[in-house]
Amino acid sequence: MSNPRPTAAAVAAPDVPTADPTSGSAADALEQASSAASLQRTVDRSAQIERDIKVDPGRFRVLTGDRPTGNLHLGHYFGTLANRVALQRQGVETLILIADYQVIADRDGVGQLRDRVYSLLADYLAIGLDPDETTIFTHSSIPELNQLMLPFLSLVTEAELRRNPTVKAESDDTGGRPMSGLLLTYPVHQAADILFCKANLVPVGKDQLPHLEQARVVARRFDERYGRADPAHPVFREPEALLSSAAHLLGTDGAKMSKSKGNTIELGMDADATAAVLKKAVTDSQRHITFDPQNRPEVSNLVLLAALSSGREPQDVATEIGDAGSGALKKVVTEAVNDHFAPIRARRAELAGDPAYLQSVLRRGNERARDIAATTLDQVRAAMSMQY
Ligand code: TRP
Repeated sequence: MSNPRPTAAAVAAPDVPTADPTSGSAADALEQASSAASLQRTVDRSAQIERDIKVDPGRFRVLTGDRPTGNLHLGHYFGTLANRVALQRQGVETLILIADYQVIADRDGVGQLRDRVYSLLADYLAIGLDPDETTIFTHSSIPELNQLMLPFLSLVTEAELRRNPTVKAESDDTGGRPMSGLLLTYPVHQAADILFCKANLVPVGKDQLPHLEQARVVARRFDERYGRADPAHPVFREPEALLSSAAHLLGTDGAKMSKSKGNTIELGMDADATAAVLKKAVTDSQRHITFDPQNRPEVSNLVLLAALSSGREPQDVATEIGDAGSGALKKVVTEAVNDHFAPIRARRAELAGDPAYLQSVLRRGNERARDIAATTLDQVRAAMSMQY
C-alpha cells in the first residue's frame, strides 16, 4: 500500500547474515527465504502451483490481504488485485484480509482508518471480487484469530524476530522512530492471519517471503511442541507462496510509485485526474517510441501501462506509436487507462454512495471468518489441553 514499503533490494541487502546452508534449523530457513537459490525454488514451485490450480482449484485455499493505509493504485491493480479476481474466477476459495491492526504497528493513532477500510472494500468490489465467493474481513473483528498470537509468540524467539529482513527494513524506514512491540512481532501476527483459516496458498511479492517462512515455522513448531487435536493431522498445515509473475509498474516519473511523489494513478481517480497525472509523466528526448525497460525506463513504463490496460503486448503498442513521439504515447496511454477503468470507476462511485451495503458485505465476511477462526481456536485449545 502507499506507506513506505521496503524494496526488494532493501530486503536482499547484505546486512542479512548469510546462513550456513548445511544447517537445517528453522531460524536458518527464515534467513534463507530471501536467498537467490531459495527464490528460484519458490519461482519454480509457484509455476507448478499455477498448473495445479488449473487442474484442481478446489485443493487450494488462498489468504491474502492489504493494510488499509491509502488508496489502491494501478500498481496494486496490475501487480496483485487483478490476479485475485483471476483466482476467484478459476474457482479457488479466497479470503481477503483488511489488516487494520497492522496499520498501528508503525504509526501513532489510527488516523483515517475507518474511511480507508471502506475505500479499500469499495476498490475490491469494484474490480470484481464477489462477496458471495470471496470472504473479505477485518483483523480487529476476529478475536479468535488474534488469540492465536499468544501460543504463536511462545514458539518464536526475540532474536529470530529481530533477524526478519522485512522487519529490519521497515524499522530502518521509520525515520528513527523506535520500533514498537507490534512491529517487531507482526510477522507472528501475520502467521496467525494465514494459519487461522488453514490457507495453503498465499500470493505474495518477494518482500513478503520471510513472513511466509515465519508462518511455516510456526505451523511446524506448534505441532512439535503442543501436538494435535486429532492424532491423524497437525492442527496447522504449512502454507506455500504463490509468487506473482506480474509486470512491475513504476510511477509516472519512472521512480517507485509513492503517493507523496504524486506519481501514481489511483483506482478511484476520474478520467480528468488521470489525464492530468499522465500529462506530467516523465519521458525522454528520443522521438521514436520503443519498449526498452533497461535503457528507457520512463517511456517503457508508459508503454507497459498502455499495454496492460488494453490487453496488448508492449512491443506492439510501441511499434504502433513509432515516430509519433511522446505526445502521442501520452494520448494512447491516457485513453487506454481511462477506457479500461471506466466501468470499474463507475461501479466504485456507486459503491461509495452505498455505505449500508459496504457495511453488510464486511459484516458477512467477518461472520464467516469468525466461524472459521473459532473452529481453529477450539482445535488449538484441545491440542494444548486448555479446554475447561
Ligand atoms: N503485510 C501485508 C501488506 O503490507 C498485509 C497482510 C497482513 C498480509 N497479513 C497478511 C498479506 C497475510 C498476506 C498474508 O500489504
